[in-house]
Amino acid sequence: MPERKKKAVVFGCRGQLGVELVSELKRRGCEVCGFDRASVDITAAAEVERALAAEDPALVMNAAAYNQVDVAEAEPQAAFQANALAVRNLALACRQIDAQLVHFSTDYVFDGTAGRPYTEQDAPHPLGAYAVSKLAGELFAQAYLDNALIVRTSGVFGPGGLKTARGNFVELMLRLAAGGQPIRVVEDHVASPTFAPLLAARTLDLVERGASGIFHVGGGTPTSWFEFARIIFEAAGLKPELRSTNEREYRTAARRPRFSALSNSKMESTGVAPMPPLAQVVAEYLALRRQAG
Ligand SMILES: NC(=O)c1ccc[n+]([C@@H]2O[C@H](COP(=O)([O-])OP(=O)(O)OC[C@H]3O[C@@H](n4cnc5c(N)ncnc54)[C@H](OP(=O)(O)O)[C@@H]3O)[C@@H](O)[C@H]2O)c1
Repeated sequence: MPERKKKAVVFGCRGQLGVELVSELKRRGCEVCGFDRASVDITAAAEVERALAAEDPALVMNAAAYNQVDVAEAEPQAAFQANALAVRNLALACRQIDAQLVHFSTDYVFDGTAGRPYTEQDAPHPLGAYAVSKLAGELFAQAYLDNALIVRTSGVFGPGGLKTARGNFVELMLRLAAGGQPIRVVEDHVASPTFAPLLAARTLDLVERGASGIFHVGGGTPTSWFEFARIIFEAAGLKPELRSTNEREYRTAARRPRFSALSNSKMESTGVAPMPPLAQVVAEYLALRRQAG
């Protein structure tokens, strides 16, 4: 944490990642101010500027994002407003108050043709409107700031998803299992499902080490969505009829990378701890979910 003052602002504080950033910052002794969309809409430059001038934090974390990958194909402007132009608002306001911006991006900046986990050196090639908007956000952060930290992640799930309309993949699977029908999940798309509390903790570890530039912080093990579903049902003690499908049978509005797992090597080379196995964090998620319910 920059020593100037241990104060941080979190935008998008009610999302899956936002709630974890707020609690992890507090756990580390920081003074934290969280803004949800109702208090600051990051697409409104004047609101962002006013909020940051009033709080004057050393650290600004942006967990707000437009994440509707398929809907973005019908409304690319909305995706670009929230994921790109709003990041420009944040970057310009951070420059005014000399704060470090930590921004989150996605494995979907890649086209999925590498056939191995992506490193920070790999060239992005987004396949749709959401992915283009997220890559543009990275570029805006880097255009105005020399020390921005950009963390690319993948398939985020955390207990915050219990309270959001969008939810997450675990909640979707549990809902489908309760419906009693066969569940079809793609097995030819592989990502790095990432537990939100650990994403928050590893990101703050990077901040404390003075990291800037692009870092990948994914779940650690390349996992197909089918395998992720299997792990969830096993951990939950459920036995729905789970069937594998593929991209050909299950068409979506947006194109997605087939293999977008992220390599955490750069993060680990700075001394930040590796991620635990997915089955372990899914069990933790389910335990938190039981406590919340
Ligand atoms: N979720 C994933 O699978 C995934 C995968 C790869 C990368 N990421 C990235 O990881 C980061 C965290 O994602 P997440 O899973 O925590 O997302 P999330 O749960 O969908 O939360 C996003 C939050 O941003 C808020 N928001 C949206 N537009 C806003 C605006 N204009 N002004 C202020 N707040 C706004 C949303 O508020 P409302 O509820 O009011 O809309 C929501 O609280 C994002 O950068 C995302 O792109 C996520």
